[in-house]
Amino acid sequence: MISLVKGDITKDHNVQAIVNAANQSLLGGGGVDGAIHRAAGPKLLEECRRLNGCTTGNAKITNAYNLPCEHVIHTVGPIWNGGFQGEETLLSKCYENSLKLAVKNHIRTIAFPSISTGVYGYPVEDAARVALHTVNSFLSDHWQEIDEVKWVLFDDRTYQAYQKELDKLRNAGELYINKMLQNSAVAKAYGDAMDLGNLMTIAPHKKRYYSRYDINWLIDEIDLGKKHSYVTFWHENAGYENGIFSQWYHDPGCPIIINGREYLTAEQYMMSEKALLFGDLESYSKIMSEPSPRKCKQLGRGVKNFDQGIWDTAFREILFHGNLGKAQSDIQFLSALLDTEDAVLIEASPYDDIYGAGIEKQDLLTIDGELKVHPKNWHKEGSSKQAENNLGFVLMGIRDLYNDLMR
Ligand code: APR
Repeated sequence: MISLVKGDITKDHNVQAIVNAANQSLLGGGGVDGAIHRAAGPKLLEECRRLNGCTTGNAKITNAYNLPCEHVIHTVGPIWNGGFQGEETLLSKCYENSLKLAVKNHIRTIAFPSISTGVYGYPVEDAARVALHTVNSFLSDHWQEIDEVKWVLFDDRTYQAYQKELDKLRNAGELYINKMLQNSAVAKAYGDAMDLGNLMTIAPHKKRYYSRYDINWLIDEIDLGKKHSYVTFWHENAGYENGIFSQWYHDPGCPIIINGREYLTAEQYMMSEKALLFGDLESYSKIMSEPSPRKCKQLGRGVKNFDQGIWDTAFREILFHGNLGKAQSDIQFLSALLDTEDAVLIEASPYDDIYGAGIEKQDLLTIDGELKVHPKNWHKEGSSKQAENNLGFVLMGIRDLYNDLMR
């Protein structure tokens, strides 16, 4: 996880190590170097004396003494000389060598200051770009060894420069977590490892993902008068309001890639998995060559050897991975999903009450000025489907997963 805070790096930031922006002598100085030595006490200087200095771009490790962490990693940033004397490479090396030292010493949480942007004069915006890209790239390969990299930034201008670079990485879909969740096995491992109990519990005996959101959760929330905003979406084309959340939405320029295979829509992924689940290879190949999501759904309904019990167990996991694949492949979709913040997502038909959550848009009642969904509409009498709003709940689960990773 990559995080930013504004503050003083010598205070407690719940990390195992902090990084010092030192000079080549390692014998202390001003700025963050001075602050760290003052907070650590004289023993830090005694230990530094035995290190015989450090060259620019490299890093050395000591104890932390009176500081609220276990280690200090001292690195020496480049002095800015206009940018034509290898400053960018040297600054990147500071972050990379500090993280290599952290991994070598089994340090999983680490805080950096903004190296070289004080006395050494490195322009903050450029330094933030180099810092974020270097760390993001390192975490792509070492996300299982480093849990968190935190920047502790001393002033607003520096904080905003880093926030801007972090947002750019996220909006471009280049955050290391996208690579990390590239395949379902990793997502499952992440789920297991992080025990996202309140998000996704993998029930091995049922092999089913249960998101923390479901009909009963929502009915309770409404009954308890919890305030929620609602985002409704519907099928068929992106033309509908929030159509991007539909299983049928697809951007021809942005196929969904799951486990190395391309799919046009989440619907095509889901129906092809259904055909494979029941061993119907003929339907599988028809679905994989069918561009229309509507026809994919029809082909899915005709899958041979279908067993409702097995499908009831497997489908939500398949739905989850189809939409996780969409989030990893389509940055527009991911941004739209994250922009819904903590709204409740509901698949609501604008004209037909037997699909999605079994409600119609006009059912979104206004209770004390808030748009509410009244429980009575969840399972409308006469509806041929007991609506479950599965896609809405799975999408909120994926939104939580990304937010959890990017906190
Ligand atoms: N916590 C977090 N950040 C801090 C702190 C602190 N207590 N004090 C200063 N900073 C910030 C500065 O505002 C700047 O954004 O750290 C960043 C780096 O500034 P410097 O400490 O000046 O480090 P740098 O630019 O790398 O220059 C290193 O300065 O202190 C001397 O001995 C050091 O010669 C070396 C040179």
